[in-house]
Amino acid sequence: MSSLLIKDATLVTSANTEKVDVLIRDGLIDQLAFHDSPSYALPSVSDDPVHEVVEAEGMLLFPGLIDNHVHFREPGLTHKATMKSEAAAAVAGGVTTVCEMPNTIPPTVTVAALADKIRRASEVTECDIRFFFGVTEEIHLATLREILAGGNAELERLRSRLAGVKIYLDHSTGNQKIADELIGDVFKTCAEHGFPLVAHCEDPQLNKEAAEKYKDDESITPTVARHSFMRPAQAEAKAIEYAIGMAKEHGTPLHIAHLSTSEGIELVRRAKADGISVTCEVAPHHLFFTTDDYKRLGTLVKMNPPIRTVDHVEALWKGIEDGTVDCIATDHAPHTLEEKTETEPLKAPSGVPGVETMLSLLLTVAGGGNPRSDESITYYVVRIMDIFKLCFENPNRIFGLGKTGIVEGAAANMVLVDPHAQWTIEGKNLHSLCKWTPYENWQVTGRVVRIFYAY
Ligand code: DOR
Ligand code: ZN
Repeated sequence: MSSLLIKDATLVTSANTEKVDVLIRDGLIDQLAFHDSPSYALPSVSDDPVHEVVEAEGMLLFPGLIDNHVHFREPGLTHKATMKSEAAAAVAGGVTTVCEMPNTIPPTVTVAALADKIRRASEVTECDIRFFFGVTEEIHLATLREILAGGNAELERLRSRLAGVKIYLDHSTGNQKIADELIGDVFKTCAEHGFPLVAHCEDPQLNKEAAEKYKDDESITPTVARHSFMRPAQAEAKAIEYAIGMAKEHGTPLHIAHLSTSEGIELVRRAKADGISVTCEVAPHHLFFTTDDYKRLGTLVKMNPPIRTVDHVEALWKGIEDGTVDCIATDHAPHTLEEKTETEPLKAPSGVPGVETMLSLLLTVAGGGNPRSDESITYYVVRIMDIFKLCFENPNRIFGLGKTGIVEGAAANMVLVDPHAQWTIEGKNLHSLCKWTPYENWQVTGRVVRIFYAY
């Protein structure tokens, strides 16, 4: 029997933090000894033939975090990233479960493509990779219905690895815009099965008109800054309003991906108050960058939806504070540095990596710090317990991931964090195959010191 004792850790839950010792035996959480308990006694491991003691005074213990929006690029785009490289990045950032998007080559829109991804993911240790199924054409919807109907072991196995459906209301990387005539049917199918529907919300018509209007506007500099004008806030708001309307009509569990605007937050806030089944996520890059950053970072901060002006950014922070935002999900989307920088600015691929830096950025703000070198953004309050909700409890519930968290009898799947460790983010030291980060040289406080993973 091998055992491991984590001593004097601070366990994080959604409600509080508690001093605890955790005894892990053969990969399972054997005992949680709470220091506050009247019957507290330090668990003993000295009789076990193999044992290790981890001194965790002052350290935070989270369950392995969940990032419900990543692009790991495999298969088909493995010059950008692989499941293995990006899983290593996730784990280094305290994330041990991810939900991966369908815009690979081939896209995850067939049984064969899904089965292939599941097989590849089974070779990745330490990170549980789940998938979203994409729907752009009628045949994909028929396949989705077949998987959801189940009826044999193979279909049930595929279903068990799915986190939900992903639809794009406008084109983004991978050109996966759903055919208009299918949208109602997808909402209906997901409603019938209580299956999460994730929507990338940008209105194609408003985006098209804005792109036409601003693409050659030389008064907007640098050139890449036009990207935010060409995919305007109103396009997101209109698409979110539309998606919420569909969720209301059909009773679909709708989740808005990478919400980036104040209008979007307000629409979700109101829909929740009206009892509509809608949830949303915000990405770190929309919380830490504003359109002023194009000057310094150029195409390294080009993504869809684009970065916004500071009023939007602060509305997102407010949405975190008041609980409108359910999840922080990174939209981790690696492209090579050459692809990002050696193309015409408006043609450079959209997307930034983020899975490895999310937790440290959030811990920095939770600790009262500011990872930016200027004061351009006012952060609202985010507490350690909020990180638990945003990056574990809520995504686990919304996507039915079945994670038990840190309880006796569960598989040990935990992350130990030093909330005081200061470090500088540098792309060359990160694990993503792309080896760059938009947060280059940012000083952060809070770092993963160890991962315990037995899945
Ligand atoms: O910026 C983005 N990059 N937005 C998306 O919708 C897709 C993603 C990617 O796959 O690169
Ligand atoms: Zn995405």
